[in-house]
Amino acid sequence: MNRRDFLRATTAAATVLPTFNILHADNDVVIGPDDDQLNIAIIGYGAEGEILTDDCVKCPGVRVRALCDIWPYRRQMAKGRLRTLGHQINVYEDYKEMLDKEDKNIDAVVVATPDWMHAEHACYCLRKGKPVYCEKEMSNQLSRAREMVLAARETGLPLQIGHQRRSNPRYMHAINTVMRGNNVLGRITHAYAQWNRSVAPFTTVKPRLNIPIETLQKYGYENMEQFLNWRWFAKYGGGPMVDLGSHQIDLFFWVWDCAPVSVTAIGGNDYYNRQMNDNVMAIYEFKTKEGKINRAFYQVLTTSSRGGFYEQFMGEDGYLTLSEISARGNTAAPEPGKDWTKFAKMGILNQSKAPVALQVERTSDVAVDARVTKAAAGLALPVELNKPAHMPHLENFFLAVRRKDPKLLNCDAELAYESAVAVLAANRSVAERKTIYFKPEEFRIPADAKHDPQKALGEQQKKQA
Ligand SMILES: NC(=O)c1ccc[n+]([C@@H]2O[C@H](COP(=O)([O-])OP(=O)(O)OC[C@H]3O[C@@H](n4cnc5c(N)ncnc54)[C@H](O)[C@@H]3O)[C@@H](O)[C@H]2O)c1
Repeated sequence: MNRRDFLRATTAAATVLPTFNILHADNDVVIGPDDDQLNIAIIGYGAEGEILTDDCVKCPGVRVRALCDIWPYRRQMAKGRLRTLGHQINVYEDYKEMLDKEDKNIDAVVVATPDWMHAEHACYCLRKGKPVYCEKEMSNQLSRAREMVLAARETGLPLQIGHQRRSNPRYMHAINTVMRGNNVLGRITHAYAQWNRSVAPFTTVKPRLNIPIETLQKYGYENMEQFLNWRWFAKYGGGPMVDLGSHQIDLFFWVWDCAPVSVTAIGGNDYYNRQMNDNVMAIYEFKTKEGKINRAFYQVLTTSSRGGFYEQFMGEDGYLTLSEISARGNTAAPEPGKDWTKFAKMGILNQSKAPVALQVERTSDVAVDARVTKAAAGLALPVELNKPAHMPHLENFFLAVRRKDPKLLNCDAELAYESAVAVLAANRSVAERKTIYFKPEEFRIPADAKHDPQKALGEQQKKQA
């Protein structure tokens, strides 16, 4: 049974069964009595690498044995932190040296380097026989994301991409059970997602922490500014649109189970004097399997934190708000006249914890405008994540590694590639000031496609030039 069939089977089951058990079973089966200890290595111990390492340590039966980072400061930090957590590790500057020396000691690798290095690190590890958990965005270049898909196919090993909402029980409940399984919102015609952050200067560090320029250049960074702020440089990242949009645009694919037909985005580097767009507003048109057009609006701002980050799905029967931080979004509300009592009775939505609804504005006793729809009380989603946000996704990866079954992954490379196509196209739409139209075949790499290292290198050099 592949991932899609599994999803179909569980969503079908969700229409007749109380769903908590299904969801919890999905997320709790992480280690069985016959499972050995898994030994892992980390490549890239920056902000995200640290979070993932801490979460790996919390996963039952997982030990961190080796770690690679080109920054001596982070290697030292990792060594100290892991020692306090009871894990003795060997640290390396060079990932190839680590893979060679630790070959017998490690079963899998977690990659949390900047986006431009994901393909190189993930493909090398896979070809060395190691399953990989690799952070999103797969790559800042589609051709390199394609290499990752091909390496996963060629080796048959699990390659999980770090869209961790795919394993978050709250998101699984909201999407698989509420929206797809039970059609609570009716036809979802629109979606909205945003990630807004306030103004922030470039990251700097004390001069004593600087990496020597020769080392930086050996690894492809021109200076500390680019190394520390790689997201804002085209060579290394995709700017906020790719960095943050990758998580949320993936959800549109998941909810509608289809790919977009176009993206029209505007934005620019209007506030900072930086390389990548500091604000983008993108409209995606999705065409469902039934031939209906649905639209999603995505916004990323780096000059205002208004509203923070969340996703909303708007259907004819109601709407639902989600955020990775539950307090920012974990509710659904019916449209007027829609009775959701049965969903509350089924346990899909929770009446008792209903938040206060928005009130219709009134002057004296008369509604200001008869066209304003009377807001209904929201109902809470009854599933909570009681672990760090990345942990269920790592557990899902470790399960696939232990069972030697990439089909168990909640976000394999093939699936993540689909949203990478759409996310990377938004920056192109901004640059070319035009709508980008997608062909359905762009989202899937043909079954007979082969990796051609010479051709890939040529394309990469052309792009960098
Ligand atoms: N899933 C999520 O929620 C989430 C959140 C934040 C970041 N991320 C992703 O995690 C990755 C890392 O992001 P970050 O915020 O930790 O960045 P960061 O700059 O804080 O850390 C990157 C680390 O990689 C190291 N590094 C750079 N090049 C290297 C190389 N060639 N070999 C070995 N180490 C190298 C750096 O020294 C640094 O310690 C990115 O892909 C980012 O998109 C994911």
